[in-house]
Amino acid sequence: MRSIVILISGRGSNMEAIVRAAQTEQWPAKIAAVISNRVDAGGLSFAAARGIPTAVVSNKDYADRTQFDAALRREIDRFSPDLVVLAGFMRILTAPFVQHYAGRMLNIHPSLLPSFTGLATHLQALTMGVKVHGATVHFVTADLDHGPIVLQEVVPVTDDDTVRSLEEKVLALEHQMYPRAVRWFVEGRLVIEEGRVYQRAVTALDVDFSG
Ligand code: GRF
Repeated sequence: MRSIVILISGRGSNMEAIVRAAQTEQWPAKIAAVISNRVDAGGLSFAAARGIPTAVVSNKDYADRTQFDAALRREIDRFSPDLVVLAGFMRILTAPFVQHYAGRMLNIHPSLLPSFTGLATHLQALTMGVKVHGATVHFVTADLDHGPIVLQEVVPVTDDDTVRSLEEKVLALEHQMYPRAVRWFVEGRLVIEEGRVYQRAVTALDVDFSG
């Protein structure tokens, strides 16, 4: 049984989608904890209501990024996760933190990377006049929004799209694709070679249903 820790900063709708998929599809994994850097993150109550342990490590309580990341790492590692999932976790992480979770930390970014890194991705897409937009699930590396890509999906950008309508379209996509990518990891399908992610076929014997 794999153990997953999910980090959020806000509403946590992607976290919700992953929790629901793990339960309804009976993944060989448990969501060990949901951790937020904000005490007011809406997603914490959803997790708590489902009996998932929650914790808050507030960045405001630490003098700098290094100290915050060290505290966050201590809290995460209490749950000995096989995978850390960033789901709307709005913090830039230090290189040692990222290194500690190398190959076992995923993020979802609301654009087709490497286009439109950083914030305001839907505005960036509209401003550039792209005809397709989308989302990317990737492994996290110290290079912000540039880790090995696991999965990308697209939506059309139409003439009447606004930032709001694009955000809605992409978020609906995220809720479909992020659980799928996390499941692939949990099932041991993902292999990273020279910066590219490949899927290997798995048999039932590869999937650990114990524990
Ligand atoms: C999502 O669009 C995610 O891609 C981005 O922040 C948003 C978080 O939404 N990083 P939620 O908290 O999962 O609802």
